[in-house]
Amino acid sequence: KTIPTGFPKGFLWGGATAANQIEGAWNIDGKGLTTAEVVQKAQDRQNIENMNVISKETVATAIADTTDDLYPKRRGIDFYHHYKEDIKLFAEMGFKAFRLSIAWARIFPKGDETTPNEAGLKFYDDVFAECHKYGIEPVVTISHYEMPLNLTLTNNGWASRATIADFTRYTEVLFKRYKGIVKYWMTFNEINASTWGFMGTGALDSDLDVPGQTQLRYQALHHEFVASAIAVKQCHEIDPAAKIGCMLARMQTYANTPNPADVRAAQLQDQLNLFFTDVQVRGEYPEYMNRFFAENGVTLQMESGDEALLQEGKVDYLGFSYYMSTVTAADDNVEKASGNLNFGGKNPYLETSDWGWQIDPTGLRITLNEFWDRYRVPLFIVENGLGALDEVSADGKIHDDYRIDYLRQHIQQMKEAVKDGVDLMGYTMWGPIDLISASTSEMSKRYGFIYVDQDDEGNGTLKRSRKDSFAWYQKVIASNGEDL
Ligand code: BG6
Repeated sequence: KTIPTGFPKGFLWGGATAANQIEGAWNIDGKGLTTAEVVQKAQDRQNIENMNVISKETVATAIADTTDDLYPKRRGIDFYHHYKEDIKLFAEMGFKAFRLSIAWARIFPKGDETTPNEAGLKFYDDVFAECHKYGIEPVVTISHYEMPLNLTLTNNGWASRATIADFTRYTEVLFKRYKGIVKYWMTFNEINASTWGFMGTGALDSDLDVPGQTQLRYQALHHEFVASAIAVKQCHEIDPAAKIGCMLARMQTYANTPNPADVRAAQLQDQLNLFFTDVQVRGEYPEYMNRFFAENGVTLQMESGDEALLQEGKVDYLGFSYYMSTVTAADDNVEKASGNLNFGGKNPYLETSDWGWQIDPTGLRITLNEFWDRYRVPLFIVENGLGALDEVSADGKIHDDYRIDYLRQHIQQMKEAVKDGVDLMGYTMWGPIDLISASTSEMSKRYGFIYVDQDDEGNGTLKRSRKDSFAWYQKVIASNGEDL
């Protein structure tokens, strides 16, 4: 067999976003309040606790506050009113794909209605039509760190099995409405985030020191696994031509030293990350989780039929985010690095971003090979990028060569993985346009090729402008990844 020389024809180059980080328009056209919109911005750059530990009182305070001052995800970057301009800019870069999510609460404002909100469905009709005007395929995440807040109040989010029925009513509406329009779906963004707290589970949450929290999170996750499997089946039945995937926050880890104890600790850490895709790609809980559950006091409540559903609802492709790697030590005696949702050990060989995330392009190649060896389904890198403090120079431009370097190095390693034989469908880097950070709700943590004039307090004209990386990515896409 010949070795591939580069990216396949039809490779899905593009960018990725999420509704709650870009749309704004949080309380118009019938939209309900979401879990993302009760999370306050972080008090300092590394403070991420506030998004995962949410009490009843926090929610009550947020509901009483009708402004977006403390809640930047309510304002996003006003994509709701700028989508034509933004998609036009993506088209100018040559995007083949645009990953976005649908805000569940635009379609079902409270989550438990039986009839969807037509204005919400219409908005996404218009967005998808705008993408298709330029030959851009929408890649749609059905649930990206938000749900109708009402489901938190009535069901405690995914902690309740009742939420599965609400979700599957929502997914059925989506597959019917966007049949033939959306070819690529994903069920839950970074499904492993459910074991980290509120953003994933939508369940009122305390930290893990509180008894019962581990049980609650894994039970909530089980409900999401079942809901995801049902959605996969619905999608296949309603629109057999569409493909539907899962989405994992990949946490590549290495042993801190060659000491076998460290190697084994890293292996376990790796299993605890791959467990989610084991369930969604292979269709069953892996054996090693039985031991983990027993040792951590978790007893999953399953209904008869759940196991069969997991088998029947195996995904078509594996989507994942990749930002960093970590190291693992058996005695956990290792300095910690930063991350958006969880923390791992520091690696002395790696540099870090302005937010302390460890930059490891080779880790992406390692991950791609590991996934391909293990699963043999097409892979899709649906997030990868650099959050940085951009400065507008005296010439009015943003010279973001550091972002170009980051992306170039990762794309180079992707290409190596393709030559290794990995089946890679596409690359939608995270956030082609500056947006609100998921973990800290800052605006100043910028990922984009397109600069948005807005600060952390929401001041600014919202004017969009092209950074240096814009022209660079344009040429990467035009050359199908040859001209880096
Ligand atoms: C991923 C999320 O974890 O990382 C995105 O899926 C998020 O929603 C991205 O924006 C980058 O994280 P952050 O915290 O820098 O926005």
